[in-house]
Amino acid sequence: MDDVPRNIVQAESEAVIMSDVKIQVDKVYKIFGNRPADALAELKAGARKAEVLQKTGCIVGLRDIDFSIRRGETFVIMGLSGSGKSTLIRHFNRLIEPTAGRILVDGRNIMDMNAKELLALRRHGISMVFQRFGLLPHQTVLENTICGPILQGVSRRDAVALGMEQLELVGLKGFENRFPSQLSGGMQQRVGLARALATQAEVLLMDEAFSALDPLIKSDMQDQLKDIQARLKKTIIFITHDLDEALHLGDRIAILKDGELRQVGTGEEILFRPADDYVERFVRKVDLSRAMYAYEAFEKVPVLTEAEATVERSAALLCQHRGVIVSNGVAPRLLSRGVSAEALPTASVEAGVAIGQCFPLLAAADAILVTESGKPTGILTREMAFKALARSARADRMS
Ligand SMILES: Nc1ncnc2c1ncn2[C@@H]1O[C@H](COP(=O)(O)OP(=O)(O)O)[C@@H](O)[C@H]1O
Ligand SMILES: [Mg+2]
Repeated sequence: MDDVPRNIVQAESEAVIMSDVKIQVDKVYKIFGNRPADALAELKAGARKAEVLQKTGCIVGLRDIDFSIRRGETFVIMGLSGSGKSTLIRHFNRLIEPTAGRILVDGRNIMDMNAKELLALRRHGISMVFQRFGLLPHQTVLENTICGPILQGVSRRDAVALGMEQLELVGLKGFENRFPSQLSGGMQQRVGLARALATQAEVLLMDEAFSALDPLIKSDMQDQLKDIQARLKKTIIFITHDLDEALHLGDRIAILKDGELRQVGTGEEILFRPADDYVERFVRKVDLSRAMYAYEAFEKVPVLTEAEATVERSAALLCQHRGVIVSNGVAPRLLSRGVSAEALPTASVEAGVAIGQCFPLLAAADAILVTESGKPTGILTREMAFKALARSARADRMS
């Protein structure tokens, strides 16, 4: 059994302004079983999950969970199977009620809500995307998509307009009259996402929403979710047991073990400043080359047009910088120190790609161009890529 830090890392939470908090989880305990009071007393006396089960027959779902989720962030909850992820996320719309503690949504304790307010919260405020899609098999894609707005009392005409808009957003325009069984798993999950978006809820709960999909489809869905989030700025609570997925999607990540919160932090904090041995072991298997991106390693260099790139000007800039990009708008050239003329780059990558994806290109050339929003802005050499990985590996060892 690991030593559990009782004061879980959320130091920066002090700095969070209240209005930035969308959901606050305040010292929440969840006990399953017939003797919750006894189990709580055991927990407060320091007993572990296994001991509590042995002494009281109760299962500890969550133990003293305390953190908040900011408006507009993608907050990932991760942990192994049985760690309490689903139990936690179901508290946010009160599908599960806490044994002790409070859940505040927009500052309001949801346990104080009456039936009408709770219904409004579930219909308008928080919407859910399920792992097994949860689509109605005998209804079309469009009908499935608009069931939220229809329940909200939106007119059919407006609901259809809204539904079509969301289907377009998730790339399913033209499929609105199909039935779920006619779609692939990935497409069905897009319908699930469109349906959740059609409620126009500010909060999306996604419990292992992509876990059942094939790796390639899963990765597409992740990218699409990121695009949608960049546009809509929802508050997304995303559960996964896949660390790569968590790092890819999460602004912040919470790590649960046996119903306890071990760390809340950015991907970088989780990777390079793990709060305890458990988190460290959890993240050790991460492939750094996939968790680091070209923008963390490349260097920006001046960009000149053909006309500007006189010999004198280029030479002067090359004294100050590693390289100069000469861009005629079509095929940018690189003038670079320390890169032989034959080895000048023809390949380029966007700054957001994982460093690992640059390796095949760097095996064929000493350097590649890095583009931001399609415009060449910098250079990535083999040396830069290796140094960035080495820096991370060092930070990892020292923490
Ligand atoms: N309704 C329930 N009754 C009893 N135990 C439950 C119930 N729901 C969850 N649990 C237990 O609570 C713990 C957390 O479960 P869960 O939240 O489903 O984990 P996860 O989603 O991380 O896999 C597990 O030990 C599980 O067996
Ligand atoms: Mg679960």
